[in-house]
Amino acid sequence: MARRNHLHFILNDAPVSLAEIGASDTLLDFLRLHCNLTGTKEGCAEGDCGACTVLVGRRSARGLVYEAVNACIRLMPSLDGCHVVTVEHLSGQGGALHPVQQAMLDHHGSQCGFCTPGIVMSLYALWMDNPKPSVAEIEVALQGNLCRCTGYAPILRAARAASEMGGQGMDALISHRAEMDTRLAALADGARVELSRSGADRAIIPASLADLAEVLAAHENPTIVAGSTDVGLWITKHMRDISPAVFITNLAELQTITQDASGLTLGAGVSYTDAAPALLAAYPQLAEFWPRIGGAQVRNMGTVGGNVANGSPIGDTPPVLIALGAELALTSTRGTRRIPVQDFFIAYGKQDRAADEFVSALHIPPLPADALFCGYKVTKRRDEDISAVAAGFLVQKDGYNVTFARLAYGGMAGTPLRAKKAEAALIGQPFTRESFAAAARAIADDFTPLTDWRASKEYRATVAANLLLRFYDQMAGEDETLTLRQENVA
Ligand SMILES: Cc1cc2nc3c(=O)[nH]c(=O)nc-3n(C[C@H](O)[C@H](O)[C@H](O)COP(=O)(O)OP(=O)(O)OC[C@H]3O[C@@H](n4cnc5c(N)ncnc54)[C@H](O)[C@@H]3O)c2cc1C
Ligand code: FES
Ligand code: FES
Repeated sequence: MARRNHLHFILNDAPVSLAEIGASDTLLDFLRLHCNLTGTKEGCAEGDCGACTVLVGRRSARGLVYEAVNACIRLMPSLDGCHVVTVEHLSGQGGALHPVQQAMLDHHGSQCGFCTPGIVMSLYALWMDNPKPSVAEIEVALQGNLCRCTGYAPILRAARAASEMGGQGMDALISHRAEMDTRLAALADGARVELSRSGADRAIIPASLADLAEVLAAHENPTIVAGSTDVGLWITKHMRDISPAVFITNLAELQTITQDASGLTLGAGVSYTDAAPALLAAYPQLAEFWPRIGGAQVRNMGTVGGNVANGSPIGDTPPVLIALGAELALTSTRGTRRIPVQDFFIAYGKQDRAADEFVSALHIPPLPADALFCGYKVTKRRDEDISAVAAGFLVQKDGYNVTFARLAYGGMAGTPLRAKKAEAALIGQPFTRESFAAAARAIADDFTPLTDWRASKEYRATVAANLLLRFYDQMAGEDETLTLRQENVA
């Protein structure tokens, strides 16, 4: 197998080749400290504020796609074979402003100025894909950009105005997409890449899935890096040493999405953004839930596989995956085994994964025709916030009685967990609010939640019970807020 000891990618219009680069080097530091591209700002260094937003173009099943990402937690080795685009690359000939920049200027969208380049880049990503976005689509595109002066109104006006200004045909990224795709294709040499900074802070980019298994078997305690939306913070906030780090970010074999009679299979490297079309077509009940995971930048980088693999008790996808009866595929040089997602979580910080195994895929069975299902997320802030409580419920009934229930929660224990006592209280009972109220009371016997800065234990217990009642109200058509929302849409 071919091996390479330098990282190569394209930055704006220039090819970049780096031999001295470590696993923990961030794109933001590289841009600002080594390239003097200081238009990209550092606000929080944890993926929250969006001041560092840049675009990364990558070759995918959808062709060459450009996505807004957080440069502060994007690690350099993950950029191999990609096209990085910073705000400096936006203006046209003679420094003419891009329509998105001009609209921000005309509509006084730039107030503090500091968050502006990140907002421009998020709006640029939207404008490229969707030149006439609705207000709701603009709001989703800006979920990951915080304006601390709360002057969103002029920013939204600018975003709407940009869609009237045209210029798509003249945009460099759009008009040179095919040419850039060819340049990136030439970088894809199929080699295993091994990088380090002065021999330390090692990064390995395996050439294939088989190579990944071999790399993991050959190293003690390697850190797998997918989207780095968790791992990036270990570096910027906790100064953790992640070496040797194994980057699976662009491994094509982990990016596959297949659907057949046995259900939906997501490769472990599929991002939230890439998963959305197939996942929401198969489970439309998650349409409100999915865009509440992270902000656009985090959904573009973060993977569903990483969300399960990290073992967090407050990850959003495990409760819905457990409710759906999903299974996890774990692969190593010894082969692949499948386990129910619920069995993966053994205890806080302990998962059923050997050091040489990686999560290779998630299999989600189809919803039974009569199944009632939904996912919920309760946070302090609507957008881009980690859940205080998350839940996934799947209930089946015959004509009148509940015949099956999988009620899974996050944020209520040291791992994502089913509320087995509440399930038992529900099964065999009539499908009525009284039965759900009794099951909601039984949740107190299932969990002893903790108080932390996200929520008190009393709040968590109340929310967990109320979510089950809300589920009943929604399924029985008795949720007034839902009816009102539907009327507003009509
Ligand atoms: C601003 C911000 C907002 C966020 N909002 C949310 C939110 O709303 N809801 C939520 O649930 N999470 C949220 N997160 C957390 C994070 O985005 C998710 O947990 C995400 O799914 C992690 O995926 P990743 O690909 O980025 O994982 P990484 O950071 O690359 O890895 C996470 C962990 O999983 C391991 N890992 C990754 N892939 C594999 C694999 N295939 N096999 C074995 N191990 C693997 C890594 O070694 C590491 O331990 C947020 C993070 C940020 C920075
Ligand atoms: S600096 Fe705040 S998201 Fe990157
Ligand atoms: S415009 Fe920058 S914080 Fe509001």
